[in-house]
Amino acid sequence: MNLIILGAPGSGKGTSATVLREKYSLAHISTGDIFRSNIKNGTPLGVEAKSYIDKGELVPDSLTVSMVEDRLSQDDCKKGYILDGFPRTLAQAEALEEMLAKNNDKIDAVLSIIVDDEIIKDRVGSRRVCEKCGASFNIKFKPTMVPGVCDLCAGNVIQRADDNPETVANRLTTYYKNTQPLIDFYANKGLIVEGNNNVDSNKCIADIENGLKAKGII
Ligand code: AP5
Repeated sequence: MNLIILGAPGSGKGTSATVLREKYSLAHISTGDIFRSNIKNGTPLGVEAKSYIDKGELVPDSLTVSMVEDRLSQDDCKKGYILDGFPRTLAQAEALEEMLAKNNDKIDAVLSIIVDDEIIKDRVGSRRVCEKCGASFNIKFKPTMVPGVCDLCAGNVIQRADDNPETVANRLTTYYKNTQPLIDFYANKGLIVEGNNNVDSNKCIADIENGLKAKGII
């Protein structure tokens, strides 16, 4: 099963993708995580990506598409994957179509996560991540057992550099301008499955699984 998860920044794409990855043994490809790992390691890609991410803008399509193409060619993707944060522009969606056609592959469903902007701002403001292993926590909704210390690896738990209110506002504007039109693009192909994450992550996953069952995918 190959899935795309679409949604505004902080809508719960990573949270939902992590559950689905475990449950259905999927490779989880988060472009945001790949960029953050490159930034942490000081690679040329990371240095270039940081200048866009810090402002809440999109990294150019040329860099992002080749990075994803390389990732999708790795062996773990053969068992099925979930693309989290890609595609984010029409050009990326079209590039993905070309990659899939070349590899005789297809996307089975596009999961569209729905959350109100005010809820997003609250959740992103209280999100914290482990700088060592990348695990995600939330001081309001999913706190660490010891404040500031990762439950999984005892690394430092910090706020993401792009989670300040000004950058979050820019990320939302960028989302509505560049990424939301993809919902129509995929709706026209009959691929959309919605998950409402306004309240409870479990309900969001139940919506998604019901939608996938209705399409005969699971
Ligand atoms: P990326 O890392 O993809 O960030 P994003 O899309 O802004 O999404 P987030 O990671 O912020 O949030 P999420 O939707 O995964 O929500 P989460 O599950 O953490 O990208 C970062 C940047 O990289 C971009 O801005 C761009 O610059 C660049 N980039 C990435 N991909 C690119 C591409 N394809 N092209 C160009 N540039 C690209 O949830 C948020 C919080 O809410 C968490 O704390 C969570 O615990 C909490 N939460 C979730 N659900 C619930 C719930 N039901 N109840 C209570 N709390 C909840």
